Amino acid sequence: MKVVHTIEELRDQLRGQLRVAFVPTMGNLHDGHLALMKMARQHGDPVVASIFVNRLQFGPNEDFDRYPRTLASDIEKLERDRNVYVLFAPDEKEMYPEPQNFQIQPPADLGGILEGHFRPGFFTGVATVVLKLFSCVQPRVAVFGKKDYQQLMVVRSMCRQFQLPVDILAHETVRDENGLALSSRNRYLSDSERAEAPNLYAVLDGIKQQVLAGNTDRLQLEDEAIRHLNARGWQVDYVALRRQRDLLPPTSEEIAAGEPVVALAAARLGDTRLIDNLEVQPSSSVSWL
Ligand code: PAF
Repeated sequence: MKVVHTIEELRDQLRGQLRVAFVPTMGNLHDGHLALMKMARQHGDPVVASIFVNRLQFGPNEDFDRYPRTLASDIEKLERDRNVYVLFAPDEKEMYPEPQNFQIQPPADLGGILEGHFRPGFFTGVATVVLKLFSCVQPRVAVFGKKDYQQLMVVRSMCRQFQLPVDILAHETVRDENGLALSSRNRYLSDSERAEAPNLYAVLDGIKQQVLAGNTDRLQLEDEAIRHLNARGWQVDYVALRRQRDLLPPTSEEIAAGEPVVALAAARLGDTRLIDNLEVQPSSSVSWL
């Protein structure tokens, strides 16, 4: 694997390559990231990964300074895994040599809700750096994890509206055996928080099972989940049942008619904010006869 730190070196390595598959990351790689690299390998060649902790997507009181930076061990993991051909690991001066005054502002109805509501500016930072990384790497396909469900939708919609020649592929969330979604932020959890953390998934799975059993009362499902998490010591930003296609709230009738939905949650355990989601395909109870 070649490790490059500048855009010029990256372009030298990729000259003439037309089927580049790309996996952007912020590093501190875990098995979830490695699964994205493996998927990239199946859909393009060569595979390029990036590691860049993007200041633009962190709010003033967020964890930019303490975000884990583990480049040496990330490189070892990628070398062992053998799916990545070039690792692009720029520093901040390389990515932002001057203040990034041109930014991509996702539409409010997608980028201003849920994560975007609780983390103002987050999706502007994500969309801006992803566009910039795409311009450096010029991939044919790029792989994103479904754990960041809304991010995936923002990136897809940006690519569609700018007609970027990149196919965005989605990888299922990789979980521990206890259901906890793998995340670089899990390493902030204390032992007792780590024991509690899988309950975020359990709550989403509870919503899924109830929807599958015919419950179409979105507000009741959300309220019950929030109350349950609060009672266990979480500080909940949101638990929301939304339509998969646009993240708007589904009506009871839509759920009953089999509208694909997704239960999404963001909540804090101590100082650590975790997010997760679970897709649900309700069975249609509408009779067309
Ligand atoms: O999902 C992430 O790790 C980041 O948001 C991304 C896509 C690499 C942009 O910084």
